[in-house]
Amino acid sequence: MSKPSVLITRKIPEPALQILQKHCDCEIWEETDTPVPRDVLKEKIQGKDGLYVLITDRVDAELMDQATSLKVISTMSVGYDHIDIHTASQKGIAVTHTPGVLTETTADLTFALMMAAARRITESERYLREGKWETWSPMQLTGQDIYGKTLGIIGMGRIGEAVARRATGFDMKILYHNRNRNEAAEKRVNASHVSLQTLLKESDYVCVLTPLTPETHHLIGEAELSLMKPSAILINSSRGPTVDEQALYRALKEKKIWAAGLDVYEKEPIGPGHPLLELDRIVLLPHIGSASIETRTRMAVMAAEDLVAGLTGQKPVHLVNPEVWNQGT
Ligand code: DGY
Repeated sequence: MSKPSVLITRKIPEPALQILQKHCDCEIWEETDTPVPRDVLKEKIQGKDGLYVLITDRVDAELMDQATSLKVISTMSVGYDHIDIHTASQKGIAVTHTPGVLTETTADLTFALMMAAARRITESERYLREGKWETWSPMQLTGQDIYGKTLGIIGMGRIGEAVARRATGFDMKILYHNRNRNEAAEKRVNASHVSLQTLLKESDYVCVLTPLTPETHHLIGEAELSLMKPSAILINSSRGPTVDEQALYRALKEKKIWAAGLDVYEKEPIGPGHPLLELDRIVLLPHIGSASIETRTRMAVMAAEDLVAGLTGQKPVHLVNPEVWNQGT
């Protein structure tokens, strides 16, 4: 019996590749460590049974129309806003992702961003490297305390709760805002559910951890930033478009909020010439929330296992659209 054919859109960790190669005929885009060009993707997807993608690949209706044999799409990410799930479901294509495995690693990075922004870590390092450190002085590079402050989490899901757990070790008061209350998490991390307005007004740290959906696009804009304290710090490690970057730029420039820490951007990647790079009071990271060796390897393996499962008739464990499976993929 012939093996299912799979397109892998980037060089992936070896353990994941081995799983795929054992069970599937694999074609891999590994010419460069950049996303496969759209026209190449549209051509290579034809005739494939499975597609292994990353967050940098847009899988929309136009692409799926080229892929008449496609049965399973597996993304090496927990987020799946780059995939048109509605169209995939309509076409009977199962979609899998990697929830859970990156929770603690992303929470570590979120907390690191908070600490770096509060204590001006990257700014201080630039100061030293640029030869500006001539003496110790009383208020030089002073930042904000973290312990005992109020943390507002927008999106108390798995990662939100893991960030809150870390915050309890810093004696922080924890507020959160969700569309639906998460009473189990409230009890576990001693958090209070409040309106978005209350969270923005009362928090010293506002962490955006909500998935990107049409409802959360620009959830934090000018009006929301203007509710925050002038000493407050905004952290975003969810998806860039949850925050209106132009409004954030203005709020930082006009000192309406004290600092920010971002791991994600409205349009990635960003680089020289981006307005946010002009600002000192912002920590900017290149979307590395889940980037530990262990976690990225586990994510890659998990996506491979689910793709193989789906293509060999077993129900993948981490289905985004389980209804498709029930209809008999
Ligand atoms: C995800 O998994 O959605 C992250 O953004 C990348 O780890």
